[in-house]
Amino acid sequence: MSKTKNNHNLLLGIDIGGTGIKGGIVDLAKGALVGERVRIETPQPATPAAIGDVLSAITKHFQWEGPLGCGFPGVIQQSRVMLAANLDETLIGVDFARLAQERTGCPAHVTNDADAAGVAEMTYGAGKGRRGVVLVITVGTGIGCGFFYNGMLIPSTELGHLKMKDKHTGKICDAEEIVSERARQERDLSWKAWAKQFDRYLKYLHRIFWPELIIIGGGATKKGDKFMPLLTVPCATALAALGNNAGIIGAAAAARIQLGKK
Ligand code: BGC
Repeated sequence: MSKTKNNHNLLLGIDIGGTGIKGGIVDLAKGALVGERVRIETPQPATPAAIGDVLSAITKHFQWEGPLGCGFPGVIQQSRVMLAANLDETLIGVDFARLAQERTGCPAHVTNDADAAGVAEMTYGAGKGRRGVVLVITVGTGIGCGFFYNGMLIPSTELGHLKMKDKHTGKICDAEEIVSERARQERDLSWKAWAKQFDRYLKYLHRIFWPELIIIGGGATKKGDKFMPLLTVPCATALAALGNNAGIIGAAAAARIQLGKK
């Protein structure tokens, strides 16, 4: 990181997803990436060693030697993986911050990926200054949720795993099996057909939590124009202002807060 060494506003953010792992240098003063991000396919199987290889490759790519933050697609408690629905189950129980630190040589922090995207949107993006209940729903390989009350994160709300009836099969299953980006692709649904199911899911969330704003993030944000106008959930909705980079930016922002405390 030679040229960036003395800039304390810079951190490396890494967003681990079920299909891709993305990294970029984040300027926390601006809430934006510095330069291009890099994306590497998520290894299959996504074991701790294989993910460690990718973390190491991304760090080397940026010649990074400072602190880094990872967004992880599962439940994290005290930096340990408790749930990893879309990655290899050998990750369960792993101290992910320690793994990242060992494989990169950098001080590392880990947080849930949707919580990270939410922190970025609430700090710099579509949720900035918003009070009350705000949900940040990320649509990717899975469905993630960042839950905020008066700007404060309530972590690990796994609302992608709420049960819903699948209208195609009549079976009850996890919401993310019906409304994730992966489900849309696997079922070869048009955006219109998918939006109808996604809207049903958002209305379900609204009936229970009464958010004042729902921010939609994740990979699907690239196609926001195809589904946002079709949503009828009775509260304000917005696309993630930071798009799919929210996860990278938020992972870095969360790391700055937590590593700063140590
Ligand atoms: C995981 C969540 C994650 C979401 C998005 C879900 O399957 O359980 O922890 O935030 O996918 O990656």
